[in-house]
Amino acid sequence: MSIIVGIGGVTNGGKTTLTHKLMQALPNCSVVHQDDFFKPQDDIEVEDGFKQYDVISALDMEAMMSTINAWMKNPIKFERSHGINNTLDAKILQYSGERDETIHILIVEGFLLYTYRPLIEIFNHRYFLSIPYEECKKRRSSRNYTVPDPPGLFDGHVWPMYVKHKKIMEDFEVDVVQLDGTKSKEELFNEVYEQIQNKIEKLLLMQACFSYLADYYYSIVCCEQVEEKVSIPCSLPLTSSIS
Ligand SMILES: Nc1ncnc2c1ncn2[C@@H]1O[C@H](COP(=O)(O)OP(=O)(O)OP(=O)(O)O)[C@@H](O)[C@H]1O
Ligand SMILES: [Mg+2]
Repeated sequence: MSIIVGIGGVTNGGKTTLTHKLMQALPNCSVVHQDDFFKPQDDIEVEDGFKQYDVISALDMEAMMSTINAWMKNPIKFERSHGINNTLDAKILQYSGERDETIHILIVEGFLLYTYRPLIEIFNHRYFLSIPYEECKKRRSSRNYTVPDPPGLFDGHVWPMYVKHKKIMEDFEVDVVQLDGTKSKEELFNEVYEQIQNKIEKLLLMQACFSYLADYYYSIVCCEQVEEKVSIPCSLPLTSSIS
């Protein structure tokens, strides 16, 4: 069984931190980081004096989608080629093990997940991390990025783009679970981990119900076919006597 979780939201909201914690705790959990799909620096457009990093055209979304599709097509192969360890989660495996079912989880994390239509649809569960402007600016200024922020980038590009994309997400009426990024890292982890666990348990239960019904239906159809072929007269004794 496969499940895809999105962890989106504002820059420095704690997306990568939360994702790492979840990845360590969940079984067969792979991750796709949107930040790995930025185009080369020279391909990033310049507008109003700033390189436009916080827009969808700065990302190679085709490459990102094909990575996700590779996982969807064959999660086991993806896990092997990405060195994913099978972190055993007792509670989840207890449910899946009994039916010889394996759970595969993909977390997709990034700042622009819910405005790009082809991506929105693939998630089973979507999270959106928010923090207030001041906190965001403070956290961002204390980070060391590979491409350092030029002066004025946060107010001139980063924050306005975040506000713009959040509005698009709301206009699209994307169904997201809001997360308060000012909560502690542990609180956020516990909240999301528990919800993913519940989601998996529900999916497994549903799957078990369907398979029970399918077995039941199959046994009825088989019985009817046997009755038609054998058509044993009801008057025959059930035991045979040796003369
Ligand atoms: N819940 C939290 N409370 C306080 N600080 C946090 C919390 N989560 C993350 N941080 C800190 O905020 C900074 C950004 O965290 P992180 O890299 O996880 O955010 P991000 O949303 O992935 O940011 P980016 O936009 O760079 O991808 C880091 O210094 C991290 O330690
Ligand atoms: Mg990050």
